[in-house]
Amino acid sequence: MKKIVISVLALLALSSSVMADGTTTFKKCAGCHGATGEKSALGKSKIINTMTKKEIATALKGYQDGTYGGASKGLMKGQVAKLSETDIKEVSDLIGK
Ligand code: HEC
Repeated sequence: MKKIVISVLALLALSSSVMADGTTTFKKCAGCHGATGEKSALGKSKIINTMTKKEIATALKGYQDGTYGGASKGLMKGQVAKLSETDIKEVSDLIGK
């Protein structure tokens, strides 16, 4: 089991180094969240680089389908509307812990 997990992780690492890594997608987020996700966007969001990859992916999917967010969630809905599942994964992997 351990071996399988390790080889899957190795494969993932390999494929993500070949594929886009979320940097392009995150460029349009950086204005509010900071270049590495280190700012609270508009003083309202969490500091997203302290969130886990999974929490970020859950938040982004939730903004898309309206199941996540606070008072400013309408704003984030517009930001994530066009992201594919792959974009969300890449951006979460890039910024999340
Ligand atoms: C115009 C400014 C702005 C841009 C651009 C923006 N965000 Fe946000 N983001 C916010 C605000 C404000 C919130 C808090 C929304 C709320 O009330 O739920 C937020 C919340 C979030 C959260 C959840 C954090 C929390 O507080 O729970 C994540 C994750 C996130 N943004 C990621 C992104 C990503 C990835 C992008 C680019 C695709 C992006 N944001 C673009 C302003 C922005």
